[in-house]
Amino acid sequence: MKSIIRNASLASAGQQKIEWVQRRMSLLNRIRTEFERDKPFRDLRLALSIHLEAKTAYLAQVLKAGGAEVAVTGCNPLSTQDDVAAALAAKGDIFVAAWRGATPEEYESHLKAVLQTKPHIILDDGGDLTKLLHGELSELAKDILGGTEETTTGVRRLKALAAQKKLRFPIFAVNDAQMKFLFDNRYGTGQSTWDGIMRTTNLSIAGKTVVVAGYGWCGRGIALRAKGLGANVIITEVNPVRAIEAVMDGFRVMELVEAAPLGEIFVTATGCKDIITEESLKIMKDGTILANSGHFDVEIRKPDLERLSVARRTIRFNVEEFEMKDGRRLYLLAEGRLVNLAAGDGHPVEIMDLSFALQALTLEYIAKHRSELQPNLYPVPPEIDHRVALLKLETLGITIDKLSPEQQAYLERAL
Ligand SMILES: NC(=O)c1ccc[n+]([C@@H]2O[C@H](COP(=O)([O-])OP(=O)(O)OC[C@H]3O[C@@H](n4cnc5c(N)ncnc54)[C@H](O)[C@@H]3O)[C@@H](O)[C@H]2O)c1
Repeated sequence: MKSIIRNASLASAGQQKIEWVQRRMSLLNRIRTEFERDKPFRDLRLALSIHLEAKTAYLAQVLKAGGAEVAVTGCNPLSTQDDVAAALAAKGDIFVAAWRGATPEEYESHLKAVLQTKPHIILDDGGDLTKLLHGELSELAKDILGGTEETTTGVRRLKALAAQKKLRFPIFAVNDAQMKFLFDNRYGTGQSTWDGIMRTTNLSIAGKTVVVAGYGWCGRGIALRAKGLGANVIITEVNPVRAIEAVMDGFRVMELVEAAPLGEIFVTATGCKDIITEESLKIMKDGTILANSGHFDVEIRKPDLERLSVARRTIRFNVEEFEMKDGRRLYLLAEGRLVNLAAGDGHPVEIMDLSFALQALTLEYIAKHRSELQPNLYPVPPEIDHRVALLKLETLGITIDKLSPEQQAYLERAL
């Protein structure tokens, strides 16, 4: 099947990006060698919906090396890199349907195109494939052996589906593995959010007042890195325990509407909707920068920004200026879509190496254990989490202590 991409002539630039990451994804390289030998996905079709940039492209190639037929699309209309998509499609052995700046209709048609390959296993990021497989394309669900979900928002959607006993196939919450959220969500989003904001605005973070909405795994990382860059950080939360954690970590905590006139850069990372709305937009400072790192573009209410403004223009690539009725100008980055991917290259390579090692091994687990799995939401098997941690230590050249039998017994003793 011919890939659906923007521009095949960009392939060589995309290929260089893939080569750059490949050399640095040591866990995935190790797994690739095993997959080439064992072919765990022989005779299986895999469909991936994931931010289509160099690291994901390499993951797709590793799965292909494991014997799978692979179809790939994006999981966000702005995060696909057209040169990478072209490189992935170039050999003709992986089907790609994605381009940057897809309209909602195009985006959905790309999701449907990968599902039309009739996959046995899916890798989802945010739940869009799963949604189609439980709605419009539900007839395809009967052939799905299992799937994985990459992010918090997708897992939340799956939990709701599982609670209603409506899940049609087994699916593994990769996001909830320790080797995922502790590093990808926290340090990955922490670094790449600021990379996206800095390269897009060319502004200094030092000395600025930064407001981070949500002190979850992503928010903690974003706040920590902002502090390291010299910002004064304010946190907004709805969870009292996390709010206290933020206080103890040395941040100011207040309601968003209170922070609205103080902040100079706002970053949302809640996975919830309507965080920045008319109420706050009306009282923000002239020049305020608005960015989102949550999965969907619903955290900053764009219709409110549009309604309150008298003029708008793109002033830099990925920066839209909204002129308010009172003359203030507010700047929205990357259309309010996740700034680290829509205005950057996503998480650092070494971080995605961990996440994708988990993905690859969990997909292999599904292939191996397909006959035992039920249509449930499963945690990543702890032995996979453990193996990824050990592999990472090994590649870092770090050895750690081991419990002696006596210590083990001591820790397991009863009263
Ligand atoms: N940009 C990326 O690359 C990237 C990476 C991983 C996850 N994500 C996405 O980021 C979002 C957050 O993920 P996470 O793992 O940090 O989730 P999390 O559940 O650990 O944290 C979310 C936090 O937001 C808080 N929150 C919820 N509603 C709020 C509101 N109205 N106001 C203030 N705080 C609120 C919650 O109490 C929680 O502490 C999700 O959408 C996830 O899918 C993005």
